[in-house]
Amino acid sequence: MAMIAKKCPQYQVKIVDINVARINAWNSDNLPIYEPGLKEIVESVKGKNLFFETDIETNIKEADIIFVSVNTPTKTFGFGAGKASDLQYIEKTARSILAASNSGKIVVEKSTLPVRTAESMERILNSNNKGLHFDVVSNPEFLAEGSAIADLENPDRVLIGGHQTEEGLAAVEEIAKIYANWVPREKIITTNLWSSELSKLTANAFLAQRISSINSLSALCEKTGANIDEIANAIGKDTRIGAKFLKASIGFGGSCFKKDILNLVYLCEHYGLPEVAAYWESIIKINEWQTTRSVKRVLRSLFNTITGKKIAVFGFAFKADTNDTRESPAHLVVRELLEERAIPIITDYKALPDAKRDLSDVLDKVQLIEEPYEAAKNAHAILLCTEWQQYAALDWQRIYDSMSKPALVFDGRNILDGEKLKKIGFDFIGIGKA
Ligand SMILES: NC(=O)c1ccc[n+]([C@@H]2O[C@H](COP(=O)([O-])OP(=O)(O)OC[C@H]3O[C@@H](n4cnc5c(N)ncnc54)[C@H](O)[C@@H]3O)[C@@H](O)[C@H]2O)c1
Repeated sequence: MAMIAKKCPQYQVKIVDINVARINAWNSDNLPIYEPGLKEIVESVKGKNLFFETDIETNIKEADIIFVSVNTPTKTFGFGAGKASDLQYIEKTARSILAASNSGKIVVEKSTLPVRTAESMERILNSNNKGLHFDVVSNPEFLAEGSAIADLENPDRVLIGGHQTEEGLAAVEEIAKIYANWVPREKIITTNLWSSELSKLTANAFLAQRISSINSLSALCEKTGANIDEIANAIGKDTRIGAKFLKASIGFGGSCFKKDILNLVYLCEHYGLPEVAAYWESIIKINEWQTTRSVKRVLRSLFNTITGKKIAVFGFAFKADTNDTRESPAHLVVRELLEERAIPIITDYKALPDAKRDLSDVLDKVQLIEEPYEAAKNAHAILLCTEWQQYAALDWQRIYDSMSKPALVFDGRNILDGEKLKKIGFDFIGIGKA
């Protein structure tokens, strides 16, 4: 929305949220999300044509177009628990739009949703006796955290789905017109509603599948002496495969991949396609296995006991350049270290406040230290879980000197120079390297 405000001064963009603390944070100097370049954009338009407000009702009433961007987490109860999307926030939003409206509007699904959600939205919105008509349009968001601003500024494509009726097509064009202020028309793809909804789940499933595929083969590399980075480089040169999303790691995280694939799995089961469901579910299983087996490798290298040992965890965010820790592999790593009764010392450049929240039940058993040199002091091992580039530039000799010996580095993101570390004296484990 900040990008739309910046690129379209002719539109007034109002952000509302039931979470007042979040709105207050957006109105302060301390934004609730860390994202490179975001602060500058928000500051350039805040108070001009971008506003963060708490009066949801008035803002619904005054809006012509409403982007619904509420959370759609995995359901934790009842039918579909653990897989299906929890659509309560979407439904509540539809009902509050209807209650507050006294004119028809275009309602845009920006959240990631199961295919055919628009049908329910429309039934709720158009079941009114106020004589109002609402058009529901799907416009999934493909940005990735950490590179959100670049992704929004120069997207590979913008996808807008609507009903193939006169009104539906007009609503799609209304949304396309917004993006056309900075995105070339040929990159704005329009489809029917269901294709658009399902494209988002499909995109995330394909991206996660590539990571799980390369990660599964990293294990074979470790057994055979092949090197996964060399393989990724060699196969990535094949234009049919391509170089992106081939970096072997401790596993993918983030709020979207797991939740969206589980949603896809649930949909396949719902439509009576158990084989397809099992196929996509295996992408998630391999991902969790990759993290767990990594911790087991570390354990073996530390003489099969880490009880009472300090283990430094470098990075808690699910990836670099974000403070988001949702589904972060580092979180699973820390839990497994605690199972082994080790003492995890966690460090991160942006994510320590979120780490503190995620680990609130075990804060007496972990330490959170912002300074990586401090975190490594007297540790028996460093487990690098987030690819913050700053870690590659640390003074590793200084770190080695301060650690318990033998000192181990496990590079869960393959960003460090293993040969250099071995020369310093470290034991070194990389992903997919014998
Ligand atoms: N995070 C990403 O990178 C990303 C990328 C693409 C798509 N998405 C999708 O976007 C959606 C939101 O993701 P997120 O990461 O921003 O989630 P989030 O949980 O950080 O934010 C959702 C916000 O919606 C608010 N909300 C809930 N119900 C509301 C209501 N009835 N009225 C007003 N506000 C309400 C919540 O208070 C919360 O602040 C999800 O469907 C997600 O899958 C996220």
